[in-house]
Amino acid sequence: MLNKKDTPFDASGSISAEGYRRLARFLEDQCGIVLGDNKHYLVSSRLRRLLGEHDLNDLDELARLVDGPGNQPLKTRVVDAMTTNETLWFRDGGPYRLLQEEILPALERRGRPSIKIWSAACSTGQEPYSISMVVEEYKARHPGSRLGNVRITATDISPTALAQARAGVYDEMALGRGVSREIRNKYFEPKDGLWAVKPQIKARVSFMELNLKDSFARLGRFQVIFCRNVLIYFSPELKGDILDRMAAILEPPGYLVLGSSETPTNYSDRYRMVRTPHGVFYRPKDHPDD
Ligand SMILES: C[S@@+](CC[C@H](N)C(=O)[O-])C[C@H]1O[C@@H](n2cnc3c(N)ncnc32)[C@H](O)[C@@H]1O
Repeated sequence: MLNKKDTPFDASGSISAEGYRRLARFLEDQCGIVLGDNKHYLVSSRLRRLLGEHDLNDLDELARLVDGPGNQPLKTRVVDAMTTNETLWFRDGGPYRLLQEEILPALERRGRPSIKIWSAACSTGQEPYSISMVVEEYKARHPGSRLGNVRITATDISPTALAQARAGVYDEMALGRGVSREIRNKYFEPKDGLWAVKPQIKARVSFMELNLKDSFARLGRFQVIFCRNVLIYFSPELKGDILDRMAAILEPPGYLVLGSSETPTNYSDRYRMVRTPHGVFYRPKDHPDD
């Protein structure tokens, strides 16, 4: 006889209109993600596997449980499963050239003894480790550099993505997405058939679970924020709220680096765009240029 865990997926993988509405409401409340109207397939493919784990009959039952009080472990699993963790090394190239050619030299000129960079939705670690590799390259190319001690705080809402990020170990396929042979040889070492980020690159990065809807108070202040390819999932109001709160913790001169299709325009009036030969960043309006 089949038990619930063996039930063929197509029976349990569908969801009623009411169940879908409940789930969408829960996701937006919990983590800001706006599901949209036609993501039934996505919901089904990402959440079906939780049914067996939590001994549930179908997605409607799951939606009812997360849309009510309690059930925190299930809620955490649903958010974790519904986040899109797509990422790659040195994503889009431009932001990393900007860091190397504009931001780090400007911060070195200012002579700060310590520099804090926030990777605000770090997924499985590629973004903060790419930043750390750029810092390492900068130091190697500028012997005697007076660049201060750089610390990178990397946060995400997804515990699964953060666990991978903290481990810092990737397979050949993950490295194939943006790591050149030269970078692999310099900054990774073989480990049990996989590739581990070298200790000097990892040492600069601290990981922390953080929902961008929540207060940033425990993070302190930053000179640079990378907030890339996450605001796209949120409502205009939440985008504006997050951007405003980021402006408040950016120290002058302040560098906010967004995804290639993202801009604060229409969401927050706290920033002005700064164009450089190496790309664009956003600076709080009340901060002077460096
Ligand atoms: C598409 S990835 C982007 C990763 C990286 N920044 C990049 O550009 O490659 C989006 C990340 O945002 C995270 N995320 C989604 N909602 C979040 C929230 N409310 N708070 C914090 N992180 C969130 C997801 O877990 C996911 O890892």
